[in-house]
Amino acid sequence: MDDAIRKKLFQNAKVWVYEAGDKIREQIHQQFKVDTKSNANDLVTEVDQSTEQYFQKQIKSHYPNHQLLGEEGYGDNVQSLDGTVWIVDPIDGTMNFVHQKRNFAISVGIYHDGVGEIGIIYNVMEDVLYTAVKGEGAFRNDKKLDLLSNEVQLETSIIALNSSLACENKRVNERKIQQLIKDSRGTRSYGSAALEFAFIAEGILDGYITMKLAPWDFAAGYILLNEVGGITVQANREPVNLLEGNTIVASNKQISERLLTDYIELKE
Ligand code: IPD
Ligand code: CA
Ligand code: CA
Repeated sequence: MDDAIRKKLFQNAKVWVYEAGDKIREQIHQQFKVDTKSNANDLVTEVDQSTEQYFQKQIKSHYPNHQLLGEEGYGDNVQSLDGTVWIVDPIDGTMNFVHQKRNFAISVGIYHDGVGEIGIIYNVMEDVLYTAVKGEGAFRNDKKLDLLSNEVQLETSIIALNSSLACENKRVNERKIQQLIKDSRGTRSYGSAALEFAFIAEGILDGYITMKLAPWDFAAGYILLNEVGGITVQANREPVNLLEGNTIVASNKQISERLLTDYIELKE
């Protein structure tokens, strides 16, 4: 992608993310409709929907040739990553949005011919914007983030885990995960994959493992983590796939190898 095009795209995407964040903050203390999707705990609100519609309108009016892959279905039926594709999660962490009124993010990843160009994750209630542009590093607001250190040992690491490790068809050897809980310094579960990626890039979290993640959950985080020298792969060491569900192991290179070798045993 041409540098000038990428720069303008980044500027527009940032403005729209901030505007979408303003709208979410306006609505968060009002009454909004909450529905369920695939199961009773899979929540969606009218704010998720209106936020995605806002992105859809902006993208299609400024970039009619771009495709949108969005969680709530207002985008396109994206079958390939050819051309420019926006992968948007209007609210990542909807359960937190509904129950906690914090700890959720807007996640926007922009890919061109399958290459991650721009990643933006906005922690709406903290007003913290994580950004990454391919080849230019990653930022937390205006501060450039350091490259991840490969010196960190698992024993002094904090690893984010979630219920998918127990629920997702019991695909992993749970004993090994129990051992990981013992061996690492601590585990966390933040409830927003996008924020979990952003926290690894920021260096306040060392790894994230999940057995189920959709492209919109990690499209921006993947780019952000790449820019600080981190690595994101599937639990079977295959590269991630931006058009379907994935298992995910995200961290710095050293911890990634340790997690994959010692703690993640797939039962397939
Ligand atoms: C969810 C969050 C959560 C992850 C789930 C996702 P949503 O996204 O990222 O942390 O464990 O797999 O579906 O539904 O709140 O956008
Ligand atoms: Ca999500
Ligand atoms: Ca969502």
